[in-house]
Amino acid sequence: MAYNEPMLRDGALDGKTFIVTGGGTGLGKSMSKYFLELGANVVIASRKLAVLEETAHELGQAIGGRNIAGKILPIACDVRDYGAIEAMKDKTLAEFGQINGLLNNAAGNFISPTERLSHRAIDTIVDIVLKGTYYTTLALGKHWIEQKQPATVLSIVTTYASTGSGFVVPSAMAKSGVLTMTRSLAVEWAKYGIRFNAIAPGPFPTKGAWDRLFPVEAFPPHLRERFSDHGNVPIKRVGEHQELANLAAYLMSDFSSYINGEVITIDGGEWINGAGEFNHLNEIPSDMWDVIQAAIKSNTRAKKQ
Ligand code: HXC
Ligand code: NAP
Repeated sequence: MAYNEPMLRDGALDGKTFIVTGGGTGLGKSMSKYFLELGANVVIASRKLAVLEETAHELGQAIGGRNIAGKILPIACDVRDYGAIEAMKDKTLAEFGQINGLLNNAAGNFISPTERLSHRAIDTIVDIVLKGTYYTTLALGKHWIEQKQPATVLSIVTTYASTGSGFVVPSAMAKSGVLTMTRSLAVEWAKYGIRFNAIAPGPFPTKGAWDRLFPVEAFPPHLRERFSDHGNVPIKRVGEHQELANLAAYLMSDFSSYINGEVITIDGGEWINGAGEFNHLNEIPSDMWDVIQAAIKSNTRAKKQ
């Protein structure tokens, strides 16, 4: 078995209905596809209905003939609009009868020096990422608690939700709020049978992220390699969508019932590469270490005398 093959057994999500925000494109689309393959019904929700409908058509075609496949339903919903979320919830219940899980995946982001941003630009990102996530979680949480329906909530954050990062400050502030919500409600709502976890992905190429975060053709030449794809990833590759889908399906499934309040990083070691004080010494060629070792020994001998 290879790392980028589907991991769970057929039917692992049979009988489940999940809502995936931002499910029409990128990582949300890949995770939705795998949930469907594993037997779940999936509602994909975002602002652009035409995009959602095209994805629903494509995913329906791809797996429609297989009896393990669940059904896909596209619903237009701006996650900043609480009324639209409630309407989406009602439409999902009318179609599938119950909701077993929520994947908070919708986001907005772009790189910029913070001092160049208007307050409206900051609001835009924070509202999609943080307000959108807590609105959706609250609307579904109230429903689950009232119906005594166990459920699971998975949120896609980023590694800089924990560390912070310059040049994506609105996203960093919002994602750390989502992570804090995850850890807080994991405790508060455990008594209702609602589980909360998060995934912090490293670079997984998507058009949405690459257009806005890695416009490397416009970067100075000496920065292009470092900021292209896997430039900061020790294992020297980007993530493949199926790897993320495998982890997400596991965390949405009952197999992960004892995991609650956790954030799982899947980044090939990227964030720790940036954090370790001496990690950049990787750039020293191995044959130079004889010279360096000799210098250290000479220094320490000199001190002893
Ligand atoms: C500075 C910008 C800007 C930019 C927009 N604005 N882009 N400011 N630099 N590049 C400002 C606008 O001028 C405006 O402020 C305000 O932000 C709102 O812009 P709109 O275009 O009106 O907003 P909207 O149409 O709602 O679009 C939202 C968006 C857009 C976030 C700007 O990019 C979008 O729809 N994104 C959704 C998909 C996405 O972002 N995917 C990437 C997720 S990747 P003013 O003051 O002029 O009114 C991700 C990965 C992280 O999160 C980790 C990777 C490793
Ligand atoms: P993407 O394709 O641009 O996905 C973002 C999605 O959010 C889009 O489908 C968009 O659809 C939706 N969205 C934006 N604003 C919305 C709103 N107000 N209401 C509802 N939906 C909205 O980018 P992606 O790379 O797949 O990102 C998916 C998730 O992974 C995000 O949470 C991102 O932060 C996270 N992530 C990605 C990476 C990576 O390397 N790709 C790394 C770390 C974390 P509409 O435009 O139709 O609304």
